[in-house]
Amino acid sequence: MTARILVAYASRKGSTAEIAQAVGKELETTGARVDVVELGKISTLAGYDAVVAGVPVYMGKVEKDISKFVAKHRDRLAIIPVAAFAVGIAPVAPRIESVEKVQEDLTTELRPIKPVALTVFAGKLDPEKMSFIERKMTGLMNVTTGDFRNWNAIAAWARELPGKLKV
Ligand SMILES: Cc1cc2nc3c(=O)[nH]c(=O)nc-3n(C[C@H](O)[C@H](O)[C@H](O)COP(=O)(O)O)c2cc1C
Repeated sequence: MTARILVAYASRKGSTAEIAQAVGKELETTGARVDVVELGKISTLAGYDAVVAGVPVYMGKVEKDISKFVAKHRDRLAIIPVAAFAVGIAPVAPRIESVEKVQEDLTTELRPIKPVALTVFAGKLDPEKMSFIERKMTGLMNVTTGDFRNWNAIAAWARELPGKLKV
């Protein structure tokens, strides 16, 4: 039977949403049926064989949508495999944020779910999409802006997922 996989994401400025779409596309090439849906819009996990969840990092924390999602769908998530990714500048700005810290935070927010795969992707910092305050904050952090998403790394991670999710 064809596996059904849900790619669930949160995104303030759209870059995590685009990564979720790319993960979904890659999973489809393995023959799975994939839905890519915003975390807050998911009412049921019925019918899904696995979940991949992705959230951005803001001010040192992964978006709380992930822990709300885990709490809401706890029973189903306890019996199907889950993979997760965070998106932030940590991979390209280790001086500001460590990848290990983001991984730990994501692991904590997922509890009691233990993901079969977890990673941190470099995201995108677009000054045009930032508020005045956000520009000030990122300016103070002295972060270089730009699109740091590595589409090859994202696709490579997604290709490994079916084996890990056992779908
Ligand atoms: C105000 C602000 C704060 C941020 N704080 C962090 C941070 O603490 N750690 C990090 O790794 N990335 C941080 N980022 C980078 C975002 O995670 C990155 O831009 C990401 O791609 C945003 O995802 P989105 O477009 O889906 O909202 C921050 C970005 C902004 C605009």
